[in-house]
Amino acid sequence: MAALSYHLYYQLTFLSTFLFLIPHTTQLQSSQSWSLLRIQHLLNYPSVLSQWHDYTDFCYGAAENASASVVCYQDSVTQLHIIGNEGTPPLPKTFSMESFFTTLTRLPDLKVLTLTSLGLWGPLPTKISRLSNLEIVNISSNYFFGAIPHEISRLSNLQTLILDYNMFSGQVPDWLTKLPLLAVLSLRNNTLDGNIPDSIGSLSSLRSLTLSSNNLSGDVPDLTGLKNLQILDLENNSLGPNFPKLERRIITVVLKGNKFTGGLPSDLGSFYLLEHLDLSSNRFVGPFSPLLLSLPSIKYLSIRGNRFTGTLVRNMSCNEELGFVDLSENLLSGNLPACLDLSSQHSKAVLYSGNCLGSTNNSSDKQNPLVFCQNQALAVGIVPPQKEGNTEKKKASVAVAIIGGVVLGVLLGAILVFFAVRKKNDRKASNKAPRRLVEHVSSAYPSKLLTDARYISQTAKLGALGIPQYKSFSLVDLEAATNNFEKSNLIGEGSYGQMYRGRLSNGTSVIIRCIKVKKGQSTQNFNRHIETISKLRHRHLVSALGHSIEYNLEDSTVSQLFLIFEYVPNGNLRNKISHGVDGQNLSWTQRISAAIGVAKGIQFLHGGIIPGLFANNLKITNVLLDQNLGAKICSYNLALLSENTKLEIEAEGLSLGLLKEFSEREMHGGEIDIYDFGVILLEIVSGKPITSHHEVLIMKSLLQSAIASDCAASRKAIADPDACKTCSDESLRTVMEICLRCLSKDPPQRPSIEDVLWNLQFAAQVQEGWHADSFSSEGSPVSPSQPCRPTN
Ligand SMILES: *[C@@H]1O[C@H](CO)[C@@H](O)[C@H](O)[C@H]1NC(C)=O
Ligand SMILES: *[C@@H]1O[C@H](CO)[C@@H](O)[C@H](O)[C@H]1NC(C)=O
Ligand SMILES: *[C@@H]1O[C@H](CO)[C@@H](O)[C@H](O)[C@H]1NC(C)=O
Ligand SMILES: *[C@@H]1O[C@H](CO)[C@@H](O)[C@H](O)[C@H]1NC(C)=O
Ligand SMILES: *[C@@H]1O[C@H](CO)[C@@H](O)[C@H](O)[C@H]1NC(C)=O
Ligand SMILES: *[C@@H]1O[C@H](CO)[C@@H](O)[C@H](O)[C@H]1NC(C)=O
Ligand SMILES: *[C@@H]1O[C@H](CO)[C@@H](O)[C@H](O)[C@H]1NC(C)=O
Ligand SMILES: *[C@@H]1O[C@H](CO)[C@@H](O)[C@H](O)[C@H]1NC(C)=O
Repeated sequence: MAALSYHLYYQLTFLSTFLFLIPHTTQLQSSQSWSLLRIQHLLNYPSVLSQWHDYTDFCYGAAENASASVVCYQDSVTQLHIIGNEGTPPLPKTFSMESFFTTLTRLPDLKVLTLTSLGLWGPLPTKISRLSNLEIVNISSNYFFGAIPHEISRLSNLQTLILDYNMFSGQVPDWLTKLPLLAVLSLRNNTLDGNIPDSIGSLSSLRSLTLSSNNLSGDVPDLTGLKNLQILDLENNSLGPNFPKLERRIITVVLKGNKFTGGLPSDLGSFYLLEHLDLSSNRFVGPFSPLLLSLPSIKYLSIRGNRFTGTLVRNMSCNEELGFVDLSENLLSGNLPACLDLSSQHSKAVLYSGNCLGSTNNSSDKQNPLVFCQNQALAVGIVPPQKEGNTEKKKASVAVAIIGGVVLGVLLGAILVFFAVRKKNDRKASNKAPRRLVEHVSSAYPSKLLTDARYISQTAKLGALGIPQYKSFSLVDLEAATNNFEKSNLIGEGSYGQMYRGRLSNGTSVIIRCIKVKKGQSTQNFNRHIETISKLRHRHLVSALGHSIEYNLEDSTVSQLFLIFEYVPNGNLRNKISHGVDGQNLSWTQRISAAIGVAKGIQFLHGGIIPGLFANNLKITNVLLDQNLGAKICSYNLALLSENTKLEIEAEGLSLGLLKEFSEREMHGGEIDIYDFGVILLEIVSGKPITSHHEVLIMKSLLQSAIASDCAASRKAIADPDACKTCSDESLRTVMEICLRCLSKDPPQRPSIEDVLWNLQFAAQVQEGWHADSFSSEGSPVSPSQPCRPTN
């Protein structure tokens, strides 16, 4: 026995020493430092890298800048961001894209690569495929030319590919389906031509597709398979004639400046998440559906520059959130709906010139005479709106020919007015367009943080075994999981927001916390917190399975955060040890193993993630049990989850007093947790709920005298008789001793979590040995109360 425990002790001390040795910051491999400096050289020493020197400690944040930063994991670069100045001219003739990428491939662990506005010129080298860990690539605003290389399809981890503002030519790749994780594809402002390949329609992870400002033509392939698509931007191409087939949960649709004709699909009115619809500068015809003004989510609607017809009436209704409406240059008649009157809501921008609307109060809004719209409408109205565009054209011209003679004079005059107005309004409309939703796109970024795992130590990695992979969820997933956040699934509500139970499509039960976010929280701040949350994955924590972020689309700030945690089915620890509550009382062995679980969870919170989480307000009721009676801590001091938090302090600016209090809490947070753990242990031993400080003091003094006693029975007397039917005295005593030490009044006197763990494991070993002995010797267990009868 002694030999065993000595051996165990030795091993554990060695182990815990080892854990302390795991470095928190690291020194970059010198070859990688050299590569970074070489990159600086090849880029011709841009001013954004003026801080990079031979002696720069790249991994330690010394080279950090909003425009240039390096992130490392262990001793290797995982992220490289260099953002040059807008309009940087091409690098000199001596620049070689091939050598530049050769140098880049010497950073083999790169996951995130941003190289924008650096004057890079040349074809994108095929050796980019050697950077096989790449997840996010943004090489916008350079002078890349030639085809997008097929080798990119080997980057099987790629989630985000942004090649905006370059001179890539050829077709939109049809091998993108080889990138199963691709969520963001942006090829804005290149010189791509041809059709959009049908294979785009099977990129099931795609959330944002931007192909604007190319020379693409033909019909858009069926996109109804893209269940996650939120943003579709096809502006300034020659696409058409048919309106794209879309999944109705899309949020942003920009078809501006293409060759779409015909009518709108009749189911557009059921696109309940649609916030931004821009159909301007196409050749749409047919009646304008007033439903578009009252779509439940619509905020931005432009139909400018088409040939929509119909009569508007004053009593039409609009969605209240509608902030921008442009109806200009169509064939609308009647009166502007009252809900669009500028006076009714001055934050709205409403444009409607170049129609045939009557009696608007503004003499300068340039409406055409009614007859203009009527005649034009007659011309295009012959065509049923659903029909294909080319038949429309033919029939329309026939109609014009028939009516032509009669109205030619009127028409000519009107057309002149029409074009005059059109020109004048063009500029205004584009100024009023809201800022692009860049943040929305970058919501792919948090997911990189998950796998990046910069700081996860060995403890963390081992602990996370068996927990499903962390991922980001879509709001649609969460709605499905909770039956649209149905009341019956609500299991808690606080000032932070609500908590729901739910079931994911794969059958996993989850808890979803909906956290309200104060206005103006920066996305960056959030990414940091989400990074922490994504690391909270350990067997003995109720772990985070993922998150979902909702954005305000106007200003890209975060409006709501959803955190998804695993659901733990077996109730809390108190109910399994205090008499009668749950019908099932844990045995002594089970209790020690639960205590070990809690201690491991604490060890992870303190040291398995950086920054560690301390002062976690640990309570026995916050320790849940899974189906195997494994313990999981369900409440930890995570800024986003607790009330009095760092996040709020950060957000609101610090008073000095608060800062001091906060850092003290942080400083002694570890010892506070040990004390709280002692209270849990007390309850585990005694089997009695302990609900006040007073009770702790009483139990402590009982424990003290019991430990001091020579008689095992006096220890059994205060232990839960249920549990101690079969407990060895040595095991019980070891747990009591460590419990007492945890409850020391003076924080520095309390043991470290490693010390606690060692003692508990020892208690478990002793118990196991005892158990085995007692069975093997006589064939029946030795009565535990044999050595010394309890006195009671
Ligand atoms: C940050 O980048 C700018 C260029 O955008 C540069 O002028 C400045 O020196 C950099 N600052 C630091 C601290 O690296
Ligand atoms: C690509 O990076 C640049 C520079 O950081 C940024 O301005 C731009 O928004 C990024 N593109 C996308 C689509 O996120
Ligand atoms: C593409 O971007 C360049 C520079 O930003 C701009 O001059 C050009 O007009 C853009 N092309 C299109 C088609 O928008
Ligand atoms: C766009 O493609 C058409 C042919 O489809 C071609 O005639 C035209 O010149 C191209 N425009 C540009 C700017 O490349
Ligand atoms: C689309 O083209 C129009 C006219 O050529 C131009 O004013 C607008 O800036 C372009 N939009 C984009 C996003 O490039
Ligand atoms: C609008 O008013 C007209 C009569 O002026 C009425 O026939 C119509 O039902 C009203 N529509 C709505 C939506 O209230
Ligand atoms: C025009 O102004 C008058 C009085 O200011 C108001 O009663 C009327 O509703 C307005 N008409 C329109 C179409 O805005
Ligand atoms: C009248 O219309 C013009 C152009 O559409 C606009 O600039 C002006 O602000 C409007 N005036 C009022 C009083 O609404």
